[in-house]
Amino acid sequence: MTNETINIYKDAKALSEGFTSFLQTEMEDKESISISLSGGSTPKTLFQYWAECCNNLIEWQKMCFFWGDERCVPPDDPLSNYGMTKKFLFDFIEKITPSHIHRIHGENDIKDELRKYEGILSRELPKHNELPCFDIMMLGLGDDGHTASIFPDQIELWESRRNCVEAVHPETKMKRISLTGRIINNSNNIAFLVTGKNKARKVKEIIGERDKFMNLYPAARVNPTHGNLYWFLDEEVASLL
Ligand code: 6PG
Repeated sequence: MTNETINIYKDAKALSEGFTSFLQTEMEDKESISISLSGGSTPKTLFQYWAECCNNLIEWQKMCFFWGDERCVPPDDPLSNYGMTKKFLFDFIEKITPSHIHRIHGENDIKDELRKYEGILSRELPKHNELPCFDIMMLGLGDDGHTASIFPDQIELWESRRNCVEAVHPETKMKRISLTGRIINNSNNIAFLVTGKNKARKVKEIIGERDKFMNLYPAARVNPTHGNLYWFLDEEVASLL
């Protein structure tokens, strides 16, 4: 793995501050910046930090928001990744341009929505290697080694020739829409945000023995084709590194 940077912070708040500093640097020389958001508890802490402390610290008008995955539920459902972002971030930051928010319509027919969202990615993002290219791809890491909504029991979806696929959560059987490996790895910057002792072994396995776990954990297949890979970790999850 080339261009892999590991940042370790004492807690989730310090991680949020560190990621914010990274974002500010990335957007310095840009008129706009595209970011694919993740769901989960770590991004929620980041959004709360942004809402409380960053109204004037981030150039919000430059930001174009997308999602790496979404649950197939309405936007006001407590399980919606967009809904969580709206509740903890968008509802507090007036400078965000509504037309820059490109949510996945989890309430729609999945096959229609896959086509529509792929069309949005194609129209709204520049291309690299003839594929839509994000400036920042935010990813979480599941306890089972999933990332976005590509789960270990459907790891073949990572290799799909499509940019977005229908996935199913292995336990809840909830349908999801997820970006695939070809798009995730085509990003200029991929940023894993991971906290909590329960994932320390997964993080150690993925960072330290990526090839050994490629067929077990979708997250081990994250490998930017041309961009950078960053880990934003708290001390607990980095304790085995
Ligand atoms: C989702 C996320 C998913 C998440 C991981 C980690 O929709 O659930 O996109 O990939 O990032 O499950 O979630 P936690 O940070 O809550 O453990």
